[in-house]
Amino acid sequence: MNSALLEDFKVWMGNDPKLNEGMQHLDEFRSLMTCYQSVIREVRTKLDILNDEMALKEDRNPIQFITSRTKKPASIGAKLLKKEKEITVDNIRDTLNDVAGIRVICSYTDDIYWLAEMLTKQDDVYLIETKDYIKTPKGNGYRSLHLILEVPIFLSDRKEAYRIEVQIRTIAMDYWASLEHSLRYKKEFGDTELGSELENCAHELATLEDRMLAIREKINQ
Ligand code: GTP
Ligand code: MG
Repeated sequence: MNSALLEDFKVWMGNDPKLNEGMQHLDEFRSLMTCYQSVIREVRTKLDILNDEMALKEDRNPIQFITSRTKKPASIGAKLLKKEKEITVDNIRDTLNDVAGIRVICSYTDDIYWLAEMLTKQDDVYLIETKDYIKTPKGNGYRSLHLILEVPIFLSDRKEAYRIEVQIRTIAMDYWASLEHSLRYKKEFGDTELGSELENCAHELATLEDRMLAIREKINQ
């Protein structure tokens, strides 16, 4: 038994008398998390293939790098409780879209839409939801394209589809989001002067990105 997972599970259940009951579901939970890890691998491979293809055709990589994670058991528990759902394997699968998460960091904005289109038109990928925070940035300046996908994995005796959140953004969008995330731990910005300063930074980065893209286009001509 993975002891880190066990510890997480205890944090999740606290001193709840249901801990023993929950322990009986530990195997079920572990197998669910393995499935989410498999979905991440499937989608990563799809992205790697698309990246290789463009590298061959256009002599450049649309993807700079990819990161991925599965949500921690404690965060899964907290999110279900917030949604007033019981912590069960079925509820995790049915209610949460972001247990598996992939972040794809692209070179240019047009790479984001190209990748999203190529990925979602594959016949084993089902698009559940798109949130385009690039066309419509969040109030604080956050930009990224978020896709919720459902993708099958093939097990020894069955095929099962799982949801995964794919965040696609450029290096500049990632730079802003990473710094904003770490600053937010220290301070809630809201409508403050610092908040609008951060939003201005996001605008400036967007402008810079457009200029870099224009340079690429000129070179290509
Ligand atoms: P939650 O997953 O509960 O946050 O709700 P949601 O799925 O409706 O949110 P959304 O799709 O808007 O955002 C999900 C993820 O995007 C977050 O977990 C973050 O990784 C990222 N994200 C969204 N908004 C921000 C933001 O303002 N700043 C940063 N740094 N990241 C953000
Ligand atoms: Mg989410």
